[in-house]
Order: sequence, then structure tokens, then C-alpha cells
Amino acid sequence: MGKGVSNKNVFASKVGAVLAAAGSAVGLGNIWRFPTETGTNGGAAFILIYILFMLLLAMPIMVAEFAIGRHGGHDVTHAFEKMSGGRRAWRWMGLLPVVCGFLVLSYYAVVAGWALYYTYEAFIDGFSGKTPEMFTADFVTFSSDSFKPVFWMVIVIAMTCGIVALGVRRGIERGAKIMMPLLFLFILVLVGCSISLPGASKGLTFLFKPDFSKVTSSVILSAMGQAFFSLSVGLGCLCTYACYFRKDIDLMKDGFSVASIDTLVALLSGLIIFPAVYSISGLQPDAGPSLVFITLPNVFQQVFGNIPWLAYLFSLIFYLLLVMAALTSSVSMLEMSAAYFHANLRIPRPLAAVLVSVVCVLLGTFCSWSFGDWKDVTFFGMGFFDFFDFLVAKLIMPIGGFLMCVFLGWVVDEKVLHAEITNHGTINSPFYPVYRFIIRYFAPICIFLIFANELGLFDLLPKG
Ligand code: PHE
Repeated sequence: MGKGVSNKNVFASKVGAVLAAAGSAVGLGNIWRFPTETGTNGGAAFILIYILFMLLLAMPIMVAEFAIGRHGGHDVTHAFEKMSGGRRAWRWMGLLPVVCGFLVLSYYAVVAGWALYYTYEAFIDGFSGKTPEMFTADFVTFSSDSFKPVFWMVIVIAMTCGIVALGVRRGIERGAKIMMPLLFLFILVLVGCSISLPGASKGLTFLFKPDFSKVTSSVILSAMGQAFFSLSVGLGCLCTYACYFRKDIDLMKDGFSVASIDTLVALLSGLIIFPAVYSISGLQPDAGPSLVFITLPNVFQQVFGNIPWLAYLFSLIFYLLLVMAALTSSVSMLEMSAAYFHANLRIPRPLAAVLVSVVCVLLGTFCSWSFGDWKDVTFFGMGFFDFFDFLVAKLIMPIGGFLMCVFLGWVVDEKVLHAEITNHGTINSPFYPVYRFIIRYFAPICIFLIFANELGLFDLLPKG
């Protein structure tokens, strides 16, 4: 246990710690962003590249974050300093999660707010008897409203703030333990339903038959962004959690477990959405952020339409679980910034959480309005929401990941890294040499090449 972390804030069990990290990873990134990105980037080829990046970039960087956080054991800023052998200059890396915590929560809460609104709709039985056209029209009307989506977003941020203010163990661990397995079960049932819809096989082809002619530089960048976003890596978010990890956790093994769960949930989510998209007339796989919110209620109606009480119950429980999955992720975002203010400015934890939340509500409102009143306000050709998403997932997360690789591979004393990965030689880590190679050479070079290609410095792939 690191200095400055009270007993109360160390995850009580190994399972709790891993589940909390999985809770941060599994969220709207898997169930909403993965199908959205897969749809707009052409399907199966994108998925293959995403899985490769998951294995070779995002997962090793996740383990890097674990190692840095656990070694430091205080907060991210101190963790970098301690891991570097006391070089104060590395503290600035700790600012990454602080700034990004704001950015990512602001737009993530908008989508979580949509999910909460759909939970409410399910509760008041607002879906029954609706046609696919009505679901589409309803979503557009709702998301472009100036007030309603902002209202639901504020509730999400308030709930997140409440959980963070309560403290790590009570708030996060307890929720993750119950929610994750339940969500998984529901997703499995929904996959069964979706692939049994008429015409579903076209969706399966879209998901599993790669067409590499569709791969452009922007598909590659999107796949890398999705891998980072989905695992919550590159921002130091998992560093923050790892500060609370126990010393006997096998970082490599647990990193692999979290990455596997995360990828599985994303793929299963694709298996729910795409067969349904091709089965229901009028839906397009490249519909963007609205895709999941228009498709899912249709699935419930089509599959359980003849048994209304089942449709009611199923959609209500599913949306509730979705909101909970979003909350375990949003909590980790708020935690990143709040933990910094709590530790460095010595502000009480609840106050730090409230301050960050207030700023997020403001930024989140702008993001929400970019679907309606502020549609025409653009930065580099993107609305607020898209711009924040681009900034976080396709720019800051990969750059943060790159810096972590450089830090761990070239700055940190090799003995320290070895000691963290092998728990001071008490566990056998046969993959350690491969891991070190990836962190030192493969991952940073790969990220650099992807950016260089996107910027036009090389012409490895056609521009997308
Ligand atoms: N990984 C989370 C998800 O898939 C999103 C997230 C991004 C969480 C960045 C924390 C930090 O929903």
C-alpha cells in the first residue's frame, strides 16, 4: 500500500479491484461506441484491426498504467514521480488525467443521459406499439431538444458525483461486483434474440467477412482510438485505480482478463446491433451515434412484441444495466480529476467531486446542444460532441499511451518495472520479455507511424 492511501481506499479483494477496472473499461464504449465506429468504418476489417490493437497496444499500456499506479500508490502525479526514481519533471504527466477527466466525462455523460432517458421511457412503457420509423423520429426529437437531454445528463453527472464522493470501496467495488455478471447475462440473451431475427445473416456477414479494400488511414486511426477508449487507457485513469491495488495482484494476468472481458462485451454488442440493423427496414449501419439508441428498442419490440410484459421487463432491466455500466465508467472519469484535486490541493473529496462535476455539466451542455441548437457551431468541421470525442479518443489517448510507453520503456529503471510485473519475483511472468519489447519498441513506433500516416508524412495507406 502506498503512502497517503488510507486502508479504506484499498480495494478489499483481488476480485473487487479487477472488477472495478473492468467496470471502468466496460461501458458505453463497448455497447454504444463500438457498434457506432464499426458501422461507420465498414465492419469486419475494422474489427480485426481493433482486436490487434487491443492485444498489442491497449492491453500492454493498461498493464503499464497498473504498474505505474500501484508502484506510486498515492495519486497519479506522485505515481509518475516515484516510478521515475524521484524526477519531479515527470509529475506533469499526472496532469493528463486531470484535464482529460473533464473532457471525456462531459460528452460521455450526454450519451449516458440518453441511456437514462431510455430507462425512464422503458419504465413508463413508452416503447410499446411503436414502429421503427417512430423510434427514429423520437430519438431525433429527443436528442436535439435544448432541455430534455441536458436534464438527463445532469442527473447522470450528479449520480457519478455521489458515488465518487462516497469513496472508492463502498461506491465502486460494490456496484461492479453485482452489475458486471448480470449485464453479461442479459447481453448473451439479446444476442440470441437478435441473430434469430429474419435477415440477420447480412449483419453477420458485415461483422465477420472483412473487406480490406475499405481500410484507409482513418479506419486505422479509428480502430486505435476505439481500442484505447474501450479499455480506458492512455489517460492515466487506470493509474488512478491502480493506486488502490493490493501488492499481490498479478498485473499482467489481470490486465489480460480485463481486456478479454472488454473485447468480448464489445463483440457481443456488435452481435446484437448489426443483425438487427439489417433485419429492420429503414436502418443503416453507418447511422452514427444514434444507431444503438434506434436499434435496441426495435429489437425489444420485434422479439418480445407478442408478449408485452416480457418486452417491458426486458427492456427496463437492460437499460438499467446499461446505465449502471455507464456509471462505473463515468465514476472512473470523475475520479481521475477529483483524486488529483483532493490529493494536491487538499480539497475534501466530496468538494473536489462537486467542483469537477459543475464544469462537466457546463461542457456537457454544449456537447448536447451540438445535436440541436448548436449544430452549426463547428471546430475543424466537427460539432462540440464530435470534437470532444475526436480529441479524447483519437488524439489524447493514443498520445498519452505513447508517452507512457516512452516513460516505462526508456525512463523507468528496468528493475522497478520487472519488480512490479513479477511482484518482486514472487510470480512467474514468462511473457515479461515480450511485454518489455512491446512497451519499448513496438507500441511507440506503431502509434507514431499511425499518426505520421494520418498527417500525411508517409503514404502507407490511402487517406480516408
Ligand atoms: N472505457 C470506457 C467505456 O468503454 C470509457 C472510458 C474512457 C472510461 C476513458 C474512462 C476513461 O465506456
